Amino acid sequence: MLTDQNTAKHCLPVIRKYIDKLDNFDIIEINAGEESKNIDFCVGVWKMLIDYGADRESLLINLGGGVISDLGGFAASTYKRGIDFVHVPTTLLSQVDASVGGKTGIDLDNIKNIIGTFTQPKAVFIEHEFLQTLPARQILSGLAEMLKHGLITDAGYWNLLKNSDLKNPSAELVYHSVEIKNKVVIEDPHEKGIRKSLNFGHTIGHAIETYSLMNDENPLTHGEAIAAGMICEAKLSNMKAGLNDWELAEITVVIGGLYPKYNFDESCFDTLYGIMLKDKKNQSGKINCSLLTAIGQCRIDNVCTQDELYESLRYYSAL
Ligand SMILES: NC(=O)c1ccc[n+]([C@@H]2O[C@H](COP(=O)([O-])OP(=O)(O)OC[C@H]3O[C@@H](n4cnc5c(N)ncnc54)[C@H](O)[C@@H]3O)[C@@H](O)[C@H]2O)c1
Ligand SMILES: [Zn+2]
Repeated sequence: MLTDQNTAKHCLPVIRKYIDKLDNFDIIEINAGEESKNIDFCVGVWKMLIDYGADRESLLINLGGGVISDLGGFAASTYKRGIDFVHVPTTLLSQVDASVGGKTGIDLDNIKNIIGTFTQPKAVFIEHEFLQTLPARQILSGLAEMLKHGLITDAGYWNLLKNSDLKNPSAELVYHSVEIKNKVVIEDPHEKGIRKSLNFGHTIGHAIETYSLMNDENPLTHGEAIAAGMICEAKLSNMKAGLNDWELAEITVVIGGLYPKYNFDESCFDTLYGIMLKDKKNQSGKINCSLLTAIGQCRIDNVCTQDELYESLRYYSAL
């Protein structure tokens, strides 16, 4: 089993009664955080698997957030040309997003997820109780992906979410988000078409996330950056894809009310644009966004110009 020190402390006891039924198991514990999602830690995991005598019949159980599922999935999918693994996601983000869809990976030289595989876990087991020990900021981080699921596929779900207690999302809401992500990735496992809709908010959101990582002492979480990105891309949707003014206002008020405003001004736009140009989702140097034609409907492959992107950033920064 792969854990980090937080999931070994908070989550392992919750599932201990099941684990103790296994004939033979060992624990590999790594440091918590994105800094562990690299080749050095992966080599460490491979070496521990060798030390513990893991063979082709062995199973790796990834107990943790997205760092553990990405790293553990990658280590398992390459060890002895691939052994089975299951995910037991313990953060809201990993439950509704990272553990579903078969993407594994590690970072290299601060380039996120640049090395990886598409390999499906044998199963994903979600235990809602894990969320009780998760810090509020981490809950909000995962919540951004749930809001995105409603915005891109399901207006009814968006309405349900906006009227729910979002500081403490219910197991039913988590389940519904998993269903949405699962349906999209089954239809398009390798992101040739519909899976790109999951990138709504992420073209600008990733740039804001990277910018914050480079400049802030206490950088934004992924979800906080995506929340800002979704407001910007809702504005682009309003400019280019038919999202009406009323829907734009609603998205701005709901998301703006949940997440702290990230302050940046016009002097940062060139840097943000430079980061967007390097995004691995781009093709032929054009910046592509997945945009909303209405709440609950998404259209992929919208090329956005520099002027349009700046206008959407201006909309957000003036809020
Ligand atoms: N593969 C994919 O499709 C995909 C999708 C989205 C994100 N990701 C990846 O996921 C990673 C982010 O995932 P994350 O936000 O889960 O980060 P994380 O794994 O770093 O977890 C966040 C923090 O919460 C702690 N933690 C985990 N579960 C806990 C619990 N139940 N109680 C208390 N503390 C707990 C962790 O130890 C860590 O300190 C990024 O590396 C991102 O690239 C992958
Ligand atoms: Zn995301």
